[in-house]
Amino acid sequence: MNSRTPRLVILISGTGSNMAALLNACENGEIDGRVAAVVSNRANAKGLDVARGAGIATRVVDHRAFADREHFDAALAREIEAFEPDLVILAGFMRILTPGFVDRFHGRIMNIHPSLLPKYPGLNTHRRAIEAGDSEAGASVHFVTTELDGGPVIIQARVPVHEGDTEESLASRVLKVEHRIYPLAVQLFCQGRLTMDSTGVHLDGEPLPASGLEYSEQSVNLTIQ
Ligand code: GAR
Repeated sequence: MNSRTPRLVILISGTGSNMAALLNACENGEIDGRVAAVVSNRANAKGLDVARGAGIATRVVDHRAFADREHFDAALAREIEAFEPDLVILAGFMRILTPGFVDRFHGRIMNIHPSLLPKYPGLNTHRRAIEAGDSEAGASVHFVTTELDGGPVIIQARVPVHEGDTEESLASRVLKVEHRIYPLAVQLFCQGRLTMDSTGVHLDGEPLPASGLEYSEQSVNLTIQ
């Protein structure tokens, strides 16, 4: 990354509450970066209105207008690259990306996933955690690789699963910590402290454990064991 303010492009499909948390963090100086654009595959994604309201450029690339994933991803990549991003941030972007797309942005795409990866990649994470009788759930921010929800983890936050939790009650508890850990991960990247290679994630040149950094309300454990 050169010395200019890091440019972020955020991809959304829906509400965009993680996007809003990232916009706020940039606004408050908690992230030394600037959101250059928000791109959605759905024209009616609520988050687009929030982004527009904040004066951020928005683009829509509707996946239904393309014959296959390759053509959609090529169009999506063109829109993103026009904003010259240092980091591409998936924030509730509900499309599986092709290896061609992922390789194009290698080491500079992040995703947030509502589970303690490697547990529960894919969909319905909260239902699966409740059905399994898990006592804790959580969220993970990870670098994106060609393996779905399988890239190396940067940071995780745990929350308890309470008796009587529904998918909705658990999702809202998890979402609160998502809004804390995504800005932290993006800030570490913007500061040039995070890198990814074939062995995993490095913070300040030191390898992170497979579960990444551990977040708690009181602190983030930035000590590498
Ligand atoms: C978040 O819980 C995010 O972790 C999840 O979608 C929600 C989006 O909420 N992402 C995935 O499930 C990706 N596989 P938001 O639009 O309010 O940020």
